[in-house]
Amino acid sequence: MTDVLIVGSGPAGASAALALSTYGVPNIVVTRYASLADTPRAHITNQRTMEVLRDLGVEDEVVAKATPQHLMGNTTFCTSLAGEELGRIRSWGNDPLVQAAHELASPTRMCDMPQHLMEPVLVDAAVARGTNLRFSTVYKSLVQDDEGVTVTVEDRLRGDEYTIRAKYLIGADGGRSQVAEDAGLPMGGQMGVAGSINIVFDMDLSKYTAHRPSTLYWVLAPGATVGGIGAGLVRCVRPWNEWLIVWGYDVTAGAPDLTTEYAESIVRRLVGDDEIPVTIKSSAAWTVNEMYAETYANGRVFCAGDATHRHPPSNGLGSNTSVQDAYNLAWKLKLVLDGTASPALLDTYTAERAPIGRQIVTRANKSIGETAPVFEALDGLSPQTPEQLWANIAARKDATEAAEKQRARLREAIAFKVYEFNAHGVDLNQRYSAESSAAIVPDGTPDPGFDRDPELYHQPTSRPGAKLPHAWITSGTRTLSTLDTVGRGRFTLLTGIGGADWLRAAGAQDLEIATAVIGPGQEYEDPYGDWARLRETADGGALLVRPDGYVAFRHATAPASSADAERLLTEAVPRILGRA
Ligand code: FDA
Repeated sequence: MTDVLIVGSGPAGASAALALSTYGVPNIVVTRYASLADTPRAHITNQRTMEVLRDLGVEDEVVAKATPQHLMGNTTFCTSLAGEELGRIRSWGNDPLVQAAHELASPTRMCDMPQHLMEPVLVDAAVARGTNLRFSTVYKSLVQDDEGVTVTVEDRLRGDEYTIRAKYLIGADGGRSQVAEDAGLPMGGQMGVAGSINIVFDMDLSKYTAHRPSTLYWVLAPGATVGGIGAGLVRCVRPWNEWLIVWGYDVTAGAPDLTTEYAESIVRRLVGDDEIPVTIKSSAAWTVNEMYAETYANGRVFCAGDATHRHPPSNGLGSNTSVQDAYNLAWKLKLVLDGTASPALLDTYTAERAPIGRQIVTRANKSIGETAPVFEALDGLSPQTPEQLWANIAARKDATEAAEKQRARLREAIAFKVYEFNAHGVDLNQRYSAESSAAIVPDGTPDPGFDRDPELYHQPTSRPGAKLPHAWITSGTRTLSTLDTVGRGRFTLLTGIGGADWLRAAGAQDLEIATAVIGPGQEYEDPYGDWARLRETADGGALLVRPDGYVAFRHATAPASSADAERLLTEAVPRILGRA
C-alpha cells in the first residue's frame, strides 16, 4: 500500500507529487498518456506560484526556462499583427507602479512558463525525490473503506487492469475528472459556455512583436467575437517564433473540421501576412467552462486543479490555482499520515480552497465579458460585413466630436482590462477564514478588509489566515525573504527580541516547529525596518506560520510569562492540527 496515489501529471498532480516527495511521503502518480503535456496550454505563472516553486526548490529552473516578465507585458489590441494597432495596456507587472507593487510583495517575479516546459520540471524533481510515476496508466474506478482506497487502473501497454491500494487518493485528472465524478463531488456552474480552438504553430513574427514585446496580442477581425475568449488571440509561446492562436467557434454549431488548411487560414487572418512561412504543429477544440466544486473531498479522496475549478484562460489562473491547491493539501496529508495531525485537518482543504476556486472561476469568466467594451467602442460587436467593420475602425481617426468620444471610449475600455492583465490582488490576496477553517486560530482582531480594490492591489497582513508578508531581511552577508524562513514542510515560529518565551514554548510542542528570530544581533536582522513595518506585532510578539506560508496563529505582544506562551501555543497547536 502506498500513502498517496495521484491521478494525473498536470500542474496539480505534478506539484502534489513534488510536494509530497519533498516531505518524504511515499506516492505514486498514474497518468493516461505516454508523455507529459505536449502543447503549451497554461503559461502565465504568477508570484504566488513562484513562491510555492521557490519553497519546493525548483524556482531557479523555472526562471531559467521561462520567458521573463519584461517580455510579457505590452498586451496589444489590433486588427491583425500586421494591421492597425488599436491600443496597448502594460500588463503582468510591467506598469511601473504595478512593478513596484510586485517587487514589494514577493521575493519572486512572475514569468511565462508554458505548460509543456513546466510539467517536466515538476515531474523530474518529484521523481528524483521518490515519486513512482506510471505513464500510459488510466484511472478506471475507486472503492474506499476506513483504511484506504482501492483504485483500479488500466495499463495501456499491457492491455490489462490491476489495482493500487493507497491510504489517500488525489484526483488531479483535469477538467473531465472521472475521480471527482466517482467521488460524487457536487459541482456548481456549467460546462460548454463557448467554443474555442487552439492552433499551435511556428512562425517568425519578430517584425510585428519584438518592438512591443508581449505574451498576448488580441485581434479584432471579422468573426473574432464569435465564441472563444472575447476576441482572437495570438499568444507567444517562445519569443518570437513559437505561437498559439485561440479562435472561437459557435458552440451550438459544433467545432469546425480542424484541417491544416483551416488552421493556416486562421493564422493568416490573425497575423495578416501571407508571406512569412508558417508550420502548423497542432490544432485542438475545447470549450469555455464556468464550473466549480462545492466540496473538494469525499472521505479519503481529494480533488485538485481543473478537477475542481474549470474556467477559461483569462487572467492566467488555471495552472496557478492548481499548483496552489496541491501545495495546500500536501502538508496536511503529510501530518495526518505521520500521525502528527488528526484526519480532521483534511477538512480544512475544502474550507480553504473551495472559496478560492469559485472566486477564480467567476473572475476568469468576467474577464471575457470585459473585452466586449473594447470592441463596442469601435461598433465592432454588431453583425456587419467586414467592410463595415473596417470603416467603423477607421472612423476613430476622424477629426470629429464623435470620433474624439470614440477614442476616449476605446482608451477607457482598454485601460479597464487591468482586471485581466494586472490583477495583482487576484494573484496574491487569497486569505483563509478562521470561521470556516479550523487550521486558522482567530486572534480577536477585526478583519482588516482591503483599503483598495482587492482584485487589483495586494494588501499584506499578518492576521491569521493570510500569507506571511514578504520583507527582505539579512543573515550575516546573505539577503533573504521572510518567506525563506518558513516552508519546507514545517511550521515556523517567527518572533523578535523579547520573544524568548515563545521559542521555549515552541520547543515544548509535540510538533516540529522551526524558529526564526528577527532583530538586531539575532539570527536574522531587519536592516531596512521593512519587517517591523509589516509584521503588525511588537518585537516580542509571535507568528506561527504553517508549512504553506500561511499565518495560523498570531500574538501581537510578548507573552506575560513563559507559562503564558506555553499555554497559548498548547491551545493553538492542537486546534490547528484538528486534535482539539
Ligand atoms: P490537467 O488537465 O493539466 O492535467 C490532468 C492530468 O490528468 C493529465 O496528466 C491527464 O493525462 C491526466 N488524466 C486525465 N484523466 C485521467 C485518467 N482517467 N487516468 C489517468 N490520468 C488521467 N490555461 C491557461 O491558463 N491558458 C491557456 O492557454 C490554456 N490552454 C489550454 C489548452 C488546452 C488544450 C487545455 C486542455 C487546457 C488549457 N488551459 C489553459 C488550462 C490549463 O492547462 C489547466 O488549468 C491546467 O492544466 C490544470 O491543471 P490540472 O493538473 O488540474 O489538469
